[in-house]
Amino acid sequence: MTNNAGEHLRMGAGLGRLNGQVAVVTGAESGIGRATARLFAREGARVVCADVAERGNPRTDRLIEADGGEAHFLLGDVSQKAVCEEMVSTAIDRFGGLDVLYLNAGTGVRKKLHEMSDEEWDHVINLNLYGVYHGVQAVLPHFMEQGHGNIVITASSFGLRASPRYPSYSATKAALVNLTRQLAVDYGPEIRVNCVCPGPIDTNRIREFPPRPRPIDEDQRYEAGQRVAALHRMGQPEEVAYCVLFLASEESSFVTGHALVVDGGQTITVQ
Ligand SMILES: NC(=O)c1ccc[n+]([C@@H]2O[C@H](COP(=O)([O-])OP(=O)(O)OC[C@H]3O[C@@H](n4cnc5c(N)ncnc54)[C@H](O)[C@@H]3O)[C@@H](O)[C@H]2O)c1
Repeated sequence: MTNNAGEHLRMGAGLGRLNGQVAVVTGAESGIGRATARLFAREGARVVCADVAERGNPRTDRLIEADGGEAHFLLGDVSQKAVCEEMVSTAIDRFGGLDVLYLNAGTGVRKKLHEMSDEEWDHVINLNLYGVYHGVQAVLPHFMEQGHGNIVITASSFGLRASPRYPSYSATKAALVNLTRQLAVDYGPEIRVNCVCPGPIDTNRIREFPPRPRPIDEDQRYEAGQRVAALHRMGQPEEVAYCVLFLASEESSFVTGHALVVDGGQTITVQ
């Protein structure tokens, strides 16, 4: 499914859907964020890639530049207000504006509630909720002043359904689905706000606390795929990226407050 550059084979040539636009992507060094930052750039956007660590090899901004695009890497923890403010000001200072904010960085801890420490609970709340709260709050003055803007948030299929031993993750992702609707109501018609709800996507899944990658092997990949009701496989980051691109572009001009499920059919059945 992937080519030598590690891209999904459906990652095609850019069609200029984001020509002249500036985008910020959080969690841009891995998985869905990395694929989306690359796709945004291929579609003509200049991209600020924010991440708490330099995980990509090569770093995502360098990959974009090698592909002929323009990008800037911002190292920082996006659960921090100051980092979110820096993301927005960097986009404006470096690229002259900001049109699309993709709040994607997120985490989870696989434990039942009674097993969780306060530290683990706070870690998930801080990134999944405060990362979005601070990000949106930082960008709103700019979007309101210019009279337009587009926000996309990464929620999850687990924001729509429960999953065993995932209380903080499911709770925060469900909150993001309804926050998306709330923001769409409060800031339309100038600003559109949507979220994606991915199912199992084949990424490094830098989850748990302290954060560490949980790459999966072939057997786990196969088993995870078999649990997906209709398409019987895991998704690739690029398959989410194209949905984010749709929401971020004018092709979705009459879509707002929407939770776009990208899960291969995972949530359409009761097992
Ligand atoms: N992979 C899946 O199956 C799946 C399914 C549903 C939803 N999601 C959601 O998609 C998003 C991306 O997941 P992924 O699997 O692509 O991730 P990943 O684990 O591959 O990458 C996450 C990236 O976010 C960065 N990050 C972590 N904490 C950060 C912080 N505090 N500040 C800035 N950056 C930070 C990491 O360094 C990493 O580069 C998350 O919100 C996740 O909850 C993933």
